[in-house]
Amino acid sequence: MNISCGTDIIEIDRIKESIEGLKEKFINKIYTDCEIQYCESKKNVKYQHYAARFAAKEAIFKALSNILKDKYAMDWKDAEILNDKTGKPYIHFINKRFDQIKSIDISISHCKQYAVANVVVIYESY
Ligand SMILES: CC(C)(COP(=O)(O)OP(=O)(O)OC[C@H]1O[C@@H](n2cnc3c(N)ncnc32)[C@H](O)[C@@H]1OP(=O)(O)O)[C@@H](O)C(=O)NCCC(=O)NCCS
Repeated sequence: MNISCGTDIIEIDRIKESIEGLKEKFINKIYTDCEIQYCESKKNVKYQHYAARFAAKEAIFKALSNILKDKYAMDWKDAEILNDKTGKPYIHFINKRFDQIKSIDISISHCKQYAVANVVVIYESY
């Protein structure tokens, strides 16, 4: 078994500008319907949650870099961030199946200016 981690930090304003500038074009390229529903439910702090999910997707990519064939092996919407009943986030892969992955976990945090995400993956190398 191997362990790999990925982390990412992003300015909330950068995501806010992309969403306000490109609107649906940006949102529909990056986020799944469930993620959009979750973030929009947060009303006036929604950009923190959008930014957190953007950081999460970057962190997932970094954590999986030893497994992925190349940087095109995963698209933004191949993995979505969902929250369980307690609010804890987890990763749901949509179009991808990684038999090598034995366990994967994510942690997210955000404040007024920044959002961060950390991903840890335990995987088998073939
Ligand atoms: C849940 C909690 C940890 C969130 O922390 P916060 O400082 O308010 O907010 P942060 O920005 O750091 O984190 C927010 C993220 O935490 C994550 N989160 C929420 N509930 C969670 C839980 N039960 N477990 C793990 N992560 C959780 C979510 O990903 C959330 O972001 P999202 O809604 O965009 O997905 C906090 O509200 C809480 O309940 N703290 C209790 C701490 C405590 O009891 N301390 C005493 C013992 S150590």
